[in-house]
Amino acid sequence: MLIQDILRRKRNAEVLDADAIHTFMRGVADGSVGDAQIGAFAMAVVLNGMNREEAIALTEATRDSGQVLRWHDLNLDGPVLDKHSTGGVGDLVSLVLGPWIAACGGHVPMISGRGLGHTGGTLDKLEAIPGYNVTPDDDLFRQLVKDVGVAIIGQTGTLAPADKRLYGVRDVTATVESLPLIVASILGKKLACGLDTLVMDVKVGNGAFMPTPDASRELAEAIVAIGSGAGTPTSVLLTDMNQPLADCAGNALEVHEALRLLRGDGRDSRLYQVTHALATEMLVQAGLATDAADAATRLETALASGEALERFSRMVHGLGGPSDLAERPAHYLAPAPFTTDVVAPRAGTVNAIDTRALGLGVVELGGGRRNAGDAIDHRVGLSHIAALGQRIEIGQPLLRLHATSRAEADAVSRRLSEAFTLGEPAHAVPPELIHATLR
Ligand code: URA
Repeated sequence: MLIQDILRRKRNAEVLDADAIHTFMRGVADGSVGDAQIGAFAMAVVLNGMNREEAIALTEATRDSGQVLRWHDLNLDGPVLDKHSTGGVGDLVSLVLGPWIAACGGHVPMISGRGLGHTGGTLDKLEAIPGYNVTPDDDLFRQLVKDVGVAIIGQTGTLAPADKRLYGVRDVTATVESLPLIVASILGKKLACGLDTLVMDVKVGNGAFMPTPDASRELAEAIVAIGSGAGTPTSVLLTDMNQPLADCAGNALEVHEALRLLRGDGRDSRLYQVTHALATEMLVQAGLATDAADAATRLETALASGEALERFSRMVHGLGGPSDLAERPAHYLAPAPFTTDVVAPRAGTVNAIDTRALGLGVVELGGGRRNAGDAIDHRVGLSHIAALGQRIEIGQPLLRLHATSRAEADAVSRRLSEAFTLGEPAHAVPPELIHATLR
């Protein structure tokens, strides 16, 4: 089958059969399909779309374009499951959720990413921990998934390599915005991890990857249908990103917050509630709990016994970090040299937060990248971020800035202050944390 024929058919808005899609994606992976052809394919899909069967085939072809992890030879004593998020600000769910699920009997081979645009990345957070190696060899990764129940590492070159090329071309050809391409990219990588089940956290709101709530919902529906259609039971929680999920954002600050939750503190936080909801869905979906009440009992036991924290510590140490991070976090997670509060210019209730602006503030402070390959400062970020619905008096802090210097702090403080809309309490109805669950 000629690649030009496949391109012509998609250009003419014809439906591609699975064979054609697999042929194309094999060529993307082995280099026989050129960048111009990849760009033409992506543009044709953006313009003409794909039906469900095509999108499932594209996801399967992405998954199968490289190594697909297999776990049966390890005789694991529980299911292999994972969670993935479309990304947010102050979203450190993975750091807590992975070990928590491991402590409940699951095995979580979590391949995570770096910060992208205004959103933080799990790998960047973990690299705030001295010695933590996000690129272990295969044997160590598998051993940790078996023995500890969780390993959070970076994308390897061998998993879904077609996506790396396709995404790179989409990025420079204005073809990122396409539902089938986005779903195949996200799910292809995840399903290559050999999962029994998957829960996706699709964010909704002004800090979300998708630009509108309707677009987030559409993405969520597509993920459920295509993930399950590709053979991995997949459900989605639509969760709120109209404010940072934690009250902090920044790599080392978020590791501190993860440890706080894993110690059993902060149960009234938004972060705890969203993490708990995702964990419940994972446990029930994978058969580790019979229902939500059973999941709640198991999760409580795992947290209260210290087992979830223990799993986190074993993962960190297993991947090269200190064995006593949980006991001495301040010793290992260096603070930023300069802190200052950004205060409210007038009194009012926090009616809106420009979440994206806060995320970009962290990037500007040096906690994220402007260009791929930039070094980042893990110490910087924001903490004590005021919440939607909170009453603030004039001169009270909206947030605390953690910066490398006063000059760096001054450069962003005004923009960060403007990210908060203060008004009358009547307008201040904090949004639901969980907008919907789709199965
Ligand atoms: N994240 C991905 O991994 N792929 C996309 O296409 C969009 C977001």
